Amino acid sequence: MNYQKLLKSKKFKIAVWGTGYIGLSTMVYFAKKKVKCVGYDINKDKINKINSGVLPLADLENWFGFDIKKLVKSNFLKATSNYKNLITEDFLVHFIAIPTEKDGKPYYKPLLNVLNNISKINYNPKNPPIIIVESTLAPKVSDKKIIPFLKKKKKIVGKNILLSIAPRRDWFIEGGKNLENLDRVYGSTDRQSTKVAKDVLSIVCKKLHVASSYRVSEMVKSVENAYRHMDITLANQLSLAFPKDNIREVLKLVGTKWNVETFHPGIGAGGYCIPLSSRYILSQVKNINKLSLLRETIKTDDGMSKSIANSIASKGLKKIGILGLSYKGDLKVSVLSKVIPLVKSLLKKKLKVRLFDPYFTKKEIYKAVKVKTFNFPKDLQNFDCLIITVEHRQFNISKKILEKYLKNCRLIIDHDGAWKKYNLKNNYHLSGDNGWI
Ligand SMILES: NC(=O)c1ccc[n+]([C@@H]2O[C@H](COP(=O)([O-])OP(=O)(O)OC[C@H]3O[C@@H](n4cnc5c(N)ncnc54)[C@H](O)[C@@H]3O)[C@@H](O)[C@H]2O)c1
Repeated sequence: MNYQKLLKSKKFKIAVWGTGYIGLSTMVYFAKKKVKCVGYDINKDKINKINSGVLPLADLENWFGFDIKKLVKSNFLKATSNYKNLITEDFLVHFIAIPTEKDGKPYYKPLLNVLNNISKINYNPKNPPIIIVESTLAPKVSDKKIIPFLKKKKKIVGKNILLSIAPRRDWFIEGGKNLENLDRVYGSTDRQSTKVAKDVLSIVCKKLHVASSYRVSEMVKSVENAYRHMDITLANQLSLAFPKDNIREVLKLVGTKWNVETFHPGIGAGGYCIPLSSRYILSQVKNINKLSLLRETIKTDDGMSKSIANSIASKGLKKIGILGLSYKGDLKVSVLSKVIPLVKSLLKKKLKVRLFDPYFTKKEIYKAVKVKTFNFPKDLQNFDCLIITVEHRQFNISKKILEKYLKNCRLIIDHDGAWKKYNLKNNYHLSGDNGWI
C-alpha cells in the first residue's frame, strides 16, 4: 500500500506528538502539501493558539514566511489536548517530536508516555501505522527503550507497527534551512518501514538519505553535532591558550581553506543539540576514556563561563550588563543557553549583573538566571562591562545612541558581532580577539 497516496486521499491523517519547534513545523509543512495533520500537546495554550490560526511560537513567523490561518481554515492543520483523538485507525503516521532532554541530560519520560498512548491504537492490519521519531535520541535508545517498550505493549515492529528514526536538522533562524530543503537522514527497522518512511517523508523532504538501519540514523544525529561541539570547543581552547593573539581572525582565515569551516571563540555551545550530542554519545559508552576527545570537549565547554567571569573580575569590573538570554539570535529559546552558567559564574565572583532580552519578560528572565532586567538602551550607562551574547535584531540601534550610553563602559564583549559595524572604541572586543579574555 502506498502511504503517500493514502494520505493524499485525505481519508487518512498524520498525528504529531508535541507541537513545539519540531512538531509544529512538521504539521505545517505536511498541511501545506494538503495532508491532514493533527497535533497533540500537553500545553493547552499552544493547542488553542494553533486552532485559532495563531503561531504559538511567534519567532517562527519569519522562518515559515507564510500565515497558518489558511491551513487551519481548510482543515489541514489542527491540534488537540486529548490524545485519544489521535489513536484511531485513520492516523497512519505518528511523528514523535517531544523533548528528550532535561537539565542537560537524556530524559525519556515524555517519549515513553507518547509510545504508551500510541500503543493503544486500533489498527488496520493492511496498513499498520508508522512511528517516525524526529526527536533527538542518544545512540542505542531504540534498542534499549523504544522497541522493548512497544514489545511489552504487544506491538511488534515491522509487523503490527512500523518504525523509522528520522532526526531533524532545521535551523529556525534562516528560512531556507527547513524541512523541505535540508538533507534528511532516515533509517528503519525493516523493509516495509523503510518503504513507508520514504513514501511519507518524500511528500515534503526533497533530499532524503536512507541509512541501512535505524541504529545508523539514530547515531548520525549525535555524531554530526559532536563534531561541531569539538570544533567550537577547539576554537575556545585556542583562545584560552593564546589570549594575546587574535584567534578570531586566525580562525576566520583558517576558514578560507576549502575543507575547513569557520568557528569563533565565545561563551560556549548552547541549545538543544550541540552541547547534548557529546553527552548522548558518552551516555552509551562503557569506557569513556575511549572517547576522551568528547570528554575533554564537555569539560572545556562547560568551563568557559568560569574563565570569562574570572577574567572580567580580574580587570576590576563590577557592574555587568548582558544583552541576550537566548542561545541564538532572533529566537526565544534559552534551553541550555550558555548565558545561564555565565550569569551564575559572574554572580559567584560577587559582580552585579543585569540582563535584557527583548524576547523574554522580566519574570522569565528572573526565573532563568535569577537577576533583574534593565531598560535598553538607557540603562547601558550603568555598566562598566557589557556582554552581547547574541545578535537579536532589536540590538541594532543607532551608533549615536550607543555612544551616548556606553560612556562608562570599559569592556564590551560582542559574541556574534552585533555591533561590529559601529567601529566602537578600543574597549570593544569581538569574542576571541586579542584582549577579550
Ligand atoms: N529546536 C531545534 O532546533 C531542534 C532541532 C533538531 C532536533 N530537535 C529535537 O526535537 C525534539 C523536540 O524539540 P523542540 O525544539 O520541538 O522542543 P519544544 O520544547 O519546542 O517542543 C516540545 C513540545 O512537546 C510538548 N510535550 C512535552 N511532553 C509531552 C508529552 N508527553 N506529550 C505531548 N507533548 C509533550 C511540549 O509541551 C512542547 O510543546 C527534541 O528532542 C529536540 O532535541 C530540536
